[in-house]
Amino acid sequence: MAKKAEQRLVKIFDTTLRDGEQAPGNSMNIEEKLRIARQLEKLKVDVIEAGFPIASDGDFEAVKRVAQVIKGAEIAGLCRSSFKDIDRAWEALQYAGERGRIHTFIATSDIHMKYKLQMEPARVLESAVKAVKRARSYTPNVEFSCEDAVRTRLPFLAEVVAAVIDAGATTVNIPDTVGYTIPFEYFNIIKYLKDNVANIDKAVISVHCHNDLGLSVANSIAAVMAGAGQVECTINGIGERAGNCSLEEFVMAMRTRHDILPYRTNVVTEHLTPASRLLSTVTGIMVQPNKAIVGANAFAHEAGIHQHGMLMEKSTYEIMTPESVGLKTSSLVLGKHSGRHAFKKRLEELGYELDDAELNKAFDRFKTLADLKKEVFDEDLDAIMTEEIMRVEEKYKLDHITVTCGSFAVATATVQMEIDGKPVRTAELGDGPVDATLKAIKKLTKCKAKLLTYNVGAITSGTDAQGEVTVKVSEGDRTVTGRGSSTDIIEASAKAYINALNRLGVMKERFEERSAL
Ligand code: KIV
Ligand code: ZN
Repeated sequence: MAKKAEQRLVKIFDTTLRDGEQAPGNSMNIEEKLRIARQLEKLKVDVIEAGFPIASDGDFEAVKRVAQVIKGAEIAGLCRSSFKDIDRAWEALQYAGERGRIHTFIATSDIHMKYKLQMEPARVLESAVKAVKRARSYTPNVEFSCEDAVRTRLPFLAEVVAAVIDAGATTVNIPDTVGYTIPFEYFNIIKYLKDNVANIDKAVISVHCHNDLGLSVANSIAAVMAGAGQVECTINGIGERAGNCSLEEFVMAMRTRHDILPYRTNVVTEHLTPASRLLSTVTGIMVQPNKAIVGANAFAHEAGIHQHGMLMEKSTYEIMTPESVGLKTSSLVLGKHSGRHAFKKRLEELGYELDDAELNKAFDRFKTLADLKKEVFDEDLDAIMTEEIMRVEEKYKLDHITVTCGSFAVATATVQMEIDGKPVRTAELGDGPVDATLKAIKKLTKCKAKLLTYNVGAITSGTDAQGEVTVKVSEGDRTVTGRGSSTDIIEASAKAYINALNRLGVMKERFEERSAL
């Protein structure tokens, strides 16, 4: 087993708030980004990439706020290799002082240079160097990325890397932008740079892998074995297309296989599960049950033979403990006699830190729920967080709903909502109570969105369990997920649908701003 002193530190650069947020349905507003950033700070990631400041005013504000609030990590902002982008990035990042990192990039593969940039390699090289020098005029903390590095001719890649290090880049990133490489090849690319770039030791080599072939974590590990000192990743592996390298998987591979991987990260792994849950709560996108580390089944042992082995000796089938990733084995938490202190403590264990006003709001909802249900579980608390705390600045709000239905009645829903703070009400008939309810909401909001999927499930067991409804709606080429919960599934349906419409509105605004880029 490798001794602690021999373990090389691998920096964790989290890009959940930038590359992760770019993925469909993962848009976050500033408050949501700040919540995630606070959890990343608790995890002790080394760098938080908070956004792409020139992309929109919303991105700019988010990077600025994260730079102002977060003290325990470096804060990066992405920018293309243009002075306008770099200046704007620093305008937002300056609040982090020496922890502010400018992350500038340009594509270096033939295919990107020819078709996307329409630039000759010599001009790309020149832009890269100028960009790094401009960034260095603001801060010594500069990262340069060769976009589509994996499909770049190696001698040219080495030339660019050497030139940007000379110009002052302190981190050079070698991304697998399209998720194309395999571990053996990626190892050799990093090794080639180590062997062929004379000044390579003056910078940290970073890797950034996309998951199109399901190899992003394996590729990142191979790169670290070849000498990379920073891994770029996201919580739950969210990101463009098939996503990015999953932070929790990479970190737990380092921790679990330290016998043959002599590397360590600074991540406090006990905060991984809360981080994953928080992100799902914020985006409304759950991870699949069989997802490594944070999926609902990651530590479940169903087969009798496995259960038998586990009872005799846990290590027969368990290579890491649930506790090591922050999974609490008992999820029965609170009831109607539980006090505010216990409620707050449990929320904190789950990764939710609330101010006094938020705590009051959440506690009121908890008391109402605890009157309806005997037992309140962690999953119920997640639902309370989703509904009472995470949803800020909503255009549409549900006030009341009354439904009549039955085997001899035509279902009728009367819905009262607030739209931009004004009360509105209507009634609709439908093919069942859910149909009538969604029709009434559609009429009030005048929305043209199409309902793609509708799923209802119980959050926990028991007939008094809260029902949770998840809907997917789309308008044009935008698709969002909405979630709602209640002990009444018609109300949960209405909440989920309204949540999706609110998300669609936020996404539309962001998209319009970004397309002006
Ligand atoms: O995938 C990629 O190449 C990127 C860069 C901008 C770092 O996200
Ligand atoms: Zn990327």
